[in-house]
Amino acid sequence: MSAAKRIFAIIDAKTGVFTISFSKYHDIMATGSTPTRIQEAFDTAKEDNPSTWHLVPRMLRETDFLLPAPWEDVFGPLRRGTVDDMVVVAQCGQSIDARIATASGHSHYINGTEGLAHLHRLRALVDAVVVGVGTALADDPQLTVRRVAGPSPARVVLDPSGRLAPTALLLADDGVRRLVVTKMDTMLDLPASIEVVRLAAADGQLAPDAVLAALAQRGFRRILIEGGSNTVSRFLAAGCLDRLHVVIAPMIIGAGPASVNLAPIERVDEAVRAPMRVHHLGDEVLLDCDLSAQRIAIGIAKKSM
Ligand SMILES: NC(=O)c1ccc[n+]([C@@H]2O[C@H](COP(=O)([O-])OP(=O)(O)OC[C@H]3O[C@@H](n4cnc5c(N)ncnc54)[C@H](OP(=O)(O)O)[C@@H]3O)[C@@H](O)[C@H]2O)c1
Repeated sequence: MSAAKRIFAIIDAKTGVFTISFSKYHDIMATGSTPTRIQEAFDTAKEDNPSTWHLVPRMLRETDFLLPAPWEDVFGPLRRGTVDDMVVVAQCGQSIDARIATASGHSHYINGTEGLAHLHRLRALVDAVVVGVGTALADDPQLTVRRVAGPSPARVVLDPSGRLAPTALLLADDGVRRLVVTKMDTMLDLPASIEVVRLAAADGQLAPDAVLAALAQRGFRRILIEGGSNTVSRFLAAGCLDRLHVVIAPMIIGAGPASVNLAPIERVDEAVRAPMRVHHLGDEVLLDCDLSAQRIAIGIAKKSM
């Protein structure tokens, strides 16, 4: 990115206004009236300023500008896909020993304030958040953005057998799109406002790439696979993730479902390689794992909303 673009990312970050265009930069430079603002912009660029978060959802969607620090390092990789027009990120909130719940299924909350805020930030940056029906039944989550500023994404449940109750909180009509992805012949009892996506299934399984293609056809380009482990593992095994965000809480649960379960391999050199970047979220750690090397192409999606 050019220095000029970088400057305007920061000027926008200071004003909160996204109407300053790149050409206006030249206008301002021509008048010679902005050395103070430019200097301020560079000063701000050096700051590590978490209070700039509220600018990030629109900056990521609508501009190519670098996000203000510290956000570019964490969320910049979600700006665009490396394989096609989609960006698919999964998240696991887990203990040190990779558990996402206790053996009885209790998981509220493994992560602390910072880890949960990170999850809500991910939601605010995507077009759609996807969960398996197991999570919908176990947790009855809202899947809205509440802990940080930003828009709530569309909510998607993978429910091949129609187990979701019409009263599930994530189906609540709050102005965002709500979709249930199911098999061709499944009987559903859902409110009329729910978009039903029917896909061909093999042995009851919905192919993750078919799920993503269906979401792309409906205008969703950035997707968060929020859980649980069954769903995340299927997308990972199918090569349908660009990134995996693992948020590790400082606790050891000892037993319970693991964040990822894949088919056994014989040798370590058969393992999925995932170069990692490490970020600190208070007393928790975020591993941002790059899975783009094994990501399969889904197809061209419409633009992000
Ligand atoms: N810590 C975290 O980050 C986190 C996040 C989310 C959830 N959780 C916890 O995880 C647990 C639930 O996870 P889970 O692994 O048991 O369930 P899950 O992944 O939420 O849901 C699995 C179910 O979703 C359906 N499904 C998902 N992908 C499918 C596909 N590609 N094709 C067909 N069906 C598909 C299947 O439904 P059918 O069985 O009807 O076929 C499957 O059994 C809960 O305890 C929850 O609290 C933790």
